[in-house]
Amino acid sequence: MLADSYGRVATDLRVSLTDRCNLRCAYCMPPEGLDWLPRPELLTDEEVVRLVRIGVTLLGIREVRFTGGEPLLRRGLPGIVAATAALHPRPRTALTTNGIGLARLAPALAEAGLDRVNVSLDTLDPDVFEKLARRRRLDDVLAGLEAAARAGLAPVKVNAVLMRGVNDHEAPDLLDYCLERGYRLRFIEQMPLDAQHGWQRATMVTAEEILDRLGAAHTLTPVGAAGRGSAPAEEFLVDGGPATVGVIASVTRPFCGACDRVRLTADGQVRNCLFAREESDLRGPLRAGADDAEIAERWRAAVAAKLPGHGIDDPGFLQPARPMSAIGG
Ligand code: 5AD
Ligand code: SF4
Repeated sequence: MLADSYGRVATDLRVSLTDRCNLRCAYCMPPEGLDWLPRPELLTDEEVVRLVRIGVTLLGIREVRFTGGEPLLRRGLPGIVAATAALHPRPRTALTTNGIGLARLAPALAEAGLDRVNVSLDTLDPDVFEKLARRRRLDDVLAGLEAAARAGLAPVKVNAVLMRGVNDHEAPDLLDYCLERGYRLRFIEQMPLDAQHGWQRATMVTAEEILDRLGAAHTLTPVGAAGRGSAPAEEFLVDGGPATVGVIASVTRPFCGACDRVRLTADGQVRNCLFAREESDLRGPLRAGADDAEIAERWRAAVAAKLPGHGIDDPGFLQPARPMSAIGG
């Protein structure tokens, strides 16, 4: 088991497959992109699969989510998914993607054993998309969403981040779009994980504000804290249900006490929290010939050292050295 000293057990593994991305979302990256990890530092497909196998068979991981950067840029993705889905016990498999390329890849991923996708969609306006993501690719994202639903990667979840003065007026439109198509929308409060350190607590669009904006157009009924479990999203029935909308209030209502996640970066470092300031290297021992038991032991130690919370709202908060794209969402 991957237990920490506060009684939490990590069963949900997030694996970043690349730090590269074909978008440049303003809450994530500067327009010019970042210095990507050099190839030799990235785990190979075989190394990723070995670590996932150790997590699932020796450490109690029950859900594996592939992230990035943009995980669809990783050529070996269908093979990695297939190898993961073939493990015993079979973990649930999911993908967090910006949707570009999903129109083409969704059937192969479903075939490989992928269960679900989360697609980022922050706007329905091509011009706002271009301003926010610095690329004109909205149509690709919408086509990707449709293909995911058609391929049975359901329920298709949509993640939206609102930025003040950019897309914060679009919350009700995004909800209507998702309701019409059966996608499950969740708004995520913007977190201080951007490489350029542009996040400001004072201008962040809060969960409360998002709920106010949605509430002006729809009746929202809390599904109840009991149903939240370790899921970060607080869910609301829309107009009596059955459709729901979620709000992930990472900053204003942190859920660290119920966290069941652990992260593996594309270069083989275990992070026990998105906001951790330390990482534990598994790639070095892996390449030096460590056996499964030794890797598992290092992984256990990394999770055991997990801190109680991220403290974003504390005065002394320090942003982690690596941005979101290099950690995995
Ligand atoms: N704050 C909140 N969410 C973010 N994401 C990326 N960067 C941030 C940030 N700074 C979102 C992406 C994606 C998910 C992995 O996290 O939009 O949906
Ligand atoms: Fe790419 Fe995701 Fe970062 Fe946007 S948020 S630039 S899609 S990694």
